[in-house]
Amino acid sequence: MRAKSAALLVLSLAAAGCARLDMQDQPKYRPQRPSDFFADGRSERQPVEGTIARGALNEDTEFYTGKDASGKDIDAFPVAVDKAFVERGQQRYDIYCAPCHGRIGNGLGMIVRRGFKQPPSYHIDRLRTAPVGHLYDVVSNGYGAMQDYAMQLQPRDRWAIVAYIRALQYSENANVNDLSADARTKIGQATTAELRDALAHEPLAPPDTDFTNFPAVPATPSGVPGVNGAGAAPSNQPERK
Ligand code: HEC
Repeated sequence: MRAKSAALLVLSLAAAGCARLDMQDQPKYRPQRPSDFFADGRSERQPVEGTIARGALNEDTEFYTGKDASGKDIDAFPVAVDKAFVERGQQRYDIYCAPCHGRIGNGLGMIVRRGFKQPPSYHIDRLRTAPVGHLYDVVSNGYGAMQDYAMQLQPRDRWAIVAYIRALQYSENANVNDLSADARTKIGQATTAELRDALAHEPLAPPDTDFTNFPAVPATPSGVPGVNGAGAAPSNQPERK
């Protein structure tokens, strides 16, 4: 009797051993799992030496690094710059750079006013005359206390931002003689009504007078769904991060 049940057990184990292979049990390796099949113990093969991922052949050194073959910062844009390109740069600048450098590049962005290290104004002589390759390099690799923006910004957008910084610099240093004769005669002729109209279309941001007495511990405003969930009683506890 005992021998019989042992034999039954062996039989049922054997049957489990050659069970069919279901799709959820695939004989595959998950990424980065070890393997004893290959001599190096990795399940993944290394790409053949010299392999370049599709779209990653960064042949144009000036475009990708902002430097020429001798490693010097270039001073001419390696891309065509037109109005649309500068406007793209303005849009990216306002997102990624203005929080510290300010909308006009004076280095007084909101993060700086809240205590971050103040960057130099773009309108100082050193940065006005800095080659475009230097500005591109700062975005790509960071500079001192500033982190790099290589992850957030593709090379083309970095150049667009550099083009916009040049426009900002020009806006603070333009010479009346750069205007056409026709445009020059119009200066001083703008009526108050025209100025008011221009302001109505693009109003100036109101001066921020409250940043000096910003509370050290921001309170969760009542009625705002916060840590306590929507509709919870207003809490005077600081919001948890
Ligand atoms: C979090 C704040 C912050 C942001 C955002 C930021 N910067 Fe900066 N930036 C700084 C600070 C601070 C410095 C000064 C660093 C130092 O000297 O240690 C600086 C310096 C610079 C300089 C001057 C380098 C030099 O030669 O002196 C340039 C140019 C510059 N940033 C461009 C940019 C651009 C373009 C962006 C957006 C893609 C950007 N920064 C985003 C904080 C920031």
